[in-house]
Amino acid sequence: MIVEIIEKVRRKESLTKEEIEIFLNGYLKGAVKDYQMSAFLMAVCCNGISKEEIFSFVDCYIQSGKQLHFLQGDTLVDKHSTGGVGDKTTLVIVPIMSALQIPVIKMSGRGLGLTGGTIDKLESIPGYQVYRSEQEMMDQVSKIGVVVCSTTEDITPLDQKTYALRDVTGTVSSIPLIAISIMSKKIAGGAKNFVFDMKYGEGALLKTKEESEKLGDIMKEIANFYHCKTDFLYSDMSHPLGYAIGNRLEVLEAMAVLQGKMKGELLETSISLASKMFMLVKNVTEEEAIQKVKEVIENKTAWNKFQEWISYQGGDIEKIKIEAKRIPYYAKQSGVITNIHAKEIALAAKALGTGREKMDDSIDPSSGIYLLKKEGESIKEGEILAYLYTNKETIPSLDSCFEIKNM
Ligand code: URA
Repeated sequence: MIVEIIEKVRRKESLTKEEIEIFLNGYLKGAVKDYQMSAFLMAVCCNGISKEEIFSFVDCYIQSGKQLHFLQGDTLVDKHSTGGVGDKTTLVIVPIMSALQIPVIKMSGRGLGLTGGTIDKLESIPGYQVYRSEQEMMDQVSKIGVVVCSTTEDITPLDQKTYALRDVTGTVSSIPLIAISIMSKKIAGGAKNFVFDMKYGEGALLKTKEESEKLGDIMKEIANFYHCKTDFLYSDMSHPLGYAIGNRLEVLEAMAVLQGKMKGELLETSISLASKMFMLVKNVTEEEAIQKVKEVIENKTAWNKFQEWISYQGGDIEKIKIEAKRIPYYAKQSGVITNIHAKEIALAAKALGTGREKMDDSIDPSSGIYLLKKEGESIKEGEILAYLYTNKETIPSLDSCFEIKNM
């Protein structure tokens, strides 16, 4: 039966709901082996699956673990990024929503591969507790309106097991598999409203806007099926978002944005995402939503919320210190910066200590790269273009990260 199911996908024949359940539940219980699942995933990756099959997968993933239900269900808004380099928008958006009286219960993951995870960023704040039981989440959201914690092993265990295998079998970037993985986690997590930050470009999983839109369309259909509301922002990840890449550096950058000390792309992207989230649960126009979001940034309510949230979860922002060597990187020529390659920057940051190869690898919270200039700015030969932070002896070159044109 198991081999027949794999062969059916290989022959591009549709699977019944029952066959999908037998296969996926068999994998979870160990009856279907990793090598069989690998062949199955590769067949799905190469041949695709139908809409009906996608729905059956999602259902099976959700049913494989616990489903959370919160009192605030219909008003809870979640935001999910498909993953980017220097993407710390969650840290900015969550306190904004909470300052706007919109409850936020957010479960996030750790980074793997080239992109960082929100939980790694939060864990880089001394004392921050990333684990929360369901009861603790509910208590915290009732008290202060916001909680951000780690996803637990009992939510969509099928996704966790499958994702680890996809990661080592070259089957991560399949559009249906990404849609199934993201949506099952989100729906099992209990929120009913979702804004998705769909990244595309060299620093993202999907390289083109078209692919990213295709993924968005499937995710929307899944959300509709579960009576969830969605909105999507498509953003280019060919260059890093903001100036900081690395966990603690990114927390400091998010704090600077909330303190009103920093403008630019991170602030603008955060405003766009937060106003979309606000519009999902409040009957307001886009202009009104943007206005409200800007207001809580400008009057520092969002910054106060950030401090309240972090300290409620045990974090101490006074203790955030960059404990690493700081090494300047000098521009090799004068001109205008035409591109900062997200993928190259992510690879260099990972070599400095920001990322991990395997889930249980440790990371250095202080490591990373801080850019002093962004695309479109001029630079002179010998001027400092970025700082590298590391505790390692071998320092990667940033030469391939920047494109500078003599205009
Ligand atoms: N993020 C997820 O959660 N799942 C995927 O498959 C890809 C990105």
